[in-house]
Amino acid sequence: MTAYRDLSREELLLLKNDLEEQFQEVKAKGLNLDMSRGKPSAAQLDLAMGMMDVLNSETDLRCMEGVDCRNYGVLDGIGEIKQLLADLIEVPKDNIVVFGNSSLNVMYDTVARSMTHGVMGSTPWCKLDKVKFLCPVPGYDRHFAITEHFGIEMINVPMTDDGPDMDVVEKLVAEDEAIKGIWCVPKYSNPQGITYSDETVHRFAKLQPAAKDFRIYWDNAYNIHHLYDDKQDYLIEILMECKKAGNEDMVYKFCSTSKVSFPGSGIAAIAASDANLVDIRNQMKIQTIGHDKLNQLRHVRFYKNIHGMVEHMKLHAEILRPKFETVLNTLERELGGLEIGSWLRPRGGYFISFDSMEGCAKAIVAKAKEAGLIMTPAGATFPYGKDPKDTNIRIAPSYPTPEELAVATEIFVLSVKLVSIEKLLNA
Ligand SMILES: Cc1ncc(COP(=O)(O)O)c(C=O)c1O
Repeated sequence: MTAYRDLSREELLLLKNDLEEQFQEVKAKGLNLDMSRGKPSAAQLDLAMGMMDVLNSETDLRCMEGVDCRNYGVLDGIGEIKQLLADLIEVPKDNIVVFGNSSLNVMYDTVARSMTHGVMGSTPWCKLDKVKFLCPVPGYDRHFAITEHFGIEMINVPMTDDGPDMDVVEKLVAEDEAIKGIWCVPKYSNPQGITYSDETVHRFAKLQPAAKDFRIYWDNAYNIHHLYDDKQDYLIEILMECKKAGNEDMVYKFCSTSKVSFPGSGIAAIAASDANLVDIRNQMKIQTIGHDKLNQLRHVRFYKNIHGMVEHMKLHAEILRPKFETVLNTLERELGGLEIGSWLRPRGGYFISFDSMEGCAKAIVAKAKEAGLIMTPAGATFPYGKDPKDTNIRIAPSYPTPEELAVATEIFVLSVKLVSIEKLLNA
């Protein structure tokens, strides 16, 4: 494969004509394809349908505390769901508080509480002149939306293959008291699929922030979401590392079963130190008398324990793995060696992150849309929707059927080629 930049102007123009013809052919099909959001497919949702049958009118609906789950009672999760989610997020059962159906909602509440009431007795953030968050980029758009919503200034921190650039993180948190948090997706990150290295986690645990109310927002959304049985990433458990470093109050861990059972009807939790959990429960007891215990019971009776959940994730992987491979193999076959884009091969999670030539991402997404393919808007993986180099595009292979995905990826690579040629011709 010759790199596009080594082709002459004439060669580029010939190639462009040929690709434009192919593009018009697909466009004429009037397709309607979506690779924009990380939603499980219907086939994946079917895997958990048994959960609809574990409770019925004959079932004993008392939890291990003896509480009737049809009624009020038990603020922060029935014992059996605490055990299951504590095992999922690898903390002791006492360090977990179970919430409702969404971890994003828990993250929103956590920022909102810090704004209005402060963190463990500190000045509420809304009374401060300036509050800032570090945002490893590319990252998850909905994290950035929360901090933007509260007027928190976001500072980009580059991602490396080992996680966020820790030289930058250490320096910034040490010198700026206005920095109150950092968004992290430490395992199979959204969108790159990167897992933070041991050294990165150790350095996180040993941070010396200027602000005593600084917290690491450790969103472990993809903890057991492996694509392979044999090639799996491993992440060090951070709450224990923070404790060993004398920093146990510095981290909030978030998780949910959204991409294990049913997104929107799963169960979310936060794990943190005892002192942090006091703060969290104080707010929770005002917010609610308790969350949906029947759903908690349903989840535990279906999965039984963490081993059941891990086995269940293998069934998800069987559906997801070929989809990831379709996309990755097509990228490799069609774009390998052309030097007009780069990507990583994740071993888990929900996304593939693609980097185009500078200044091309928006145009590629627009081009794909012309042929009926919806991608995540370019820029979405950066705070304020602004990708300074306009290169990053998030690919979400989970939702389309395998047949749709094959066509969608063809449209994507055609769009990448056409936009890149245009860029080179205009250089
Ligand atoms: C990193 C990350 N965190 C959280 C969520 C949403 O989780 P929940 O459904 O528990 O709100 C997603 C969904 O895509 C995600 O990618």
